Amino acid sequence: MARAGFGPQAGPVTNDQARRRDGTDGGQETSAAGEELSLFADPRYAACYDAFFPWEDREDFHFYLPRVTAADAVLDVGCGTGMLLHHAREAGHAGRLVGLDPAPGMLERARRRTDVEWVRGDLRSVAWREEFDLVLMTGHAFQELVTDADLRAALRAVSAALAPGGSFAFETRNPALRGWERWDFEYSLAVPDPEGSGGTVRMAMQAEGPATPAPGGGTLVRAVTRLTGPAWPGLRTHRSAYRFLNAAELRGFLAEAGLEVAEQYGDFDGSPPDDSAPEIVTVARRA
Ligand SMILES: C[S@@+](CC[C@H](N)C(=O)[O-])C[C@H]1O[C@@H](n2cnc3c(N)ncnc32)[C@H](O)[C@@H]1O
Repeated sequence: MARAGFGPQAGPVTNDQARRRDGTDGGQETSAAGEELSLFADPRYAACYDAFFPWEDREDFHFYLPRVTAADAVLDVGCGTGMLLHHAREAGHAGRLVGLDPAPGMLERARRRTDVEWVRGDLRSVAWREEFDLVLMTGHAFQELVTDADLRAALRAVSAALAPGGSFAFETRNPALRGWERWDFEYSLAVPDPEGSGGTVRMAMQAEGPATPAPGGGTLVRAVTRLTGPAWPGLRTHRSAYRFLNAAELRGFLAEAGLEVAEQYGDFDGSPPDDSAPEIVTVARRA
């Protein structure tokens, strides 16, 4: 089945464009205004997210949580269902915790806990000034910033939001491993329906079309995610795009925003970064 815009001829896309270009499988969720919803804005996906990616499997959160508890004021960008900040409060964090996300379905889950500030919004258009000791982006949310303009606007906003001496901690997958070629295996997941139907919810995500060079550096990977579940008919299909930057490209974008790399790891166990490492885990500081 042909899908417009996702073939080799497709140029750089934003995630907004990726959704508008989506084709044909049916089951595409739309807002009241008739716009296609992103994967994360799909309330069905949001309801299943924590079951697909439970705390016990989140090695990244075990890396980030001690940093959150050590910081007075924390902004979690792309907080999703809020799992990390929920755990930070439960672990006794007494300072300011703010979760930012544009996806209402994910935020609705986050809001189950009311002792954290939840803000619906997009990092590219927020205006916090020197308020946070730590800004985070976890779950590879950083890779959803796909155009140079997205990256620059987002990193400017992070830099502005950081108090002097503050840190920005995030990870991006190492492009050298071409992990997207194994996404169909890595992200074929099935969990008992968290809404209690007794059935199974399945998700299958795979890269779609060839990875292409991104104009300002790095690689652009388009992906399709399909969801099936007992509570809805047919497939729910979402398209999205992810940018992969290597360590040098990343350093360049950070430097433009006045951020410099203070620590870098190849994985959440603190192992050194190199070409065979799965992640580029970065802690950057305002220069
Ligand atoms: C893979 S989820 C990660 C959620 C959570 N951080 C975690 O680790 O489980 C990515 C989240 O980033 C959010 N996101 C994507 N682009 C964003 C942007 N420009 N500003 C803020 N959040 C964004 C999405 O809505 C989504 O909830």
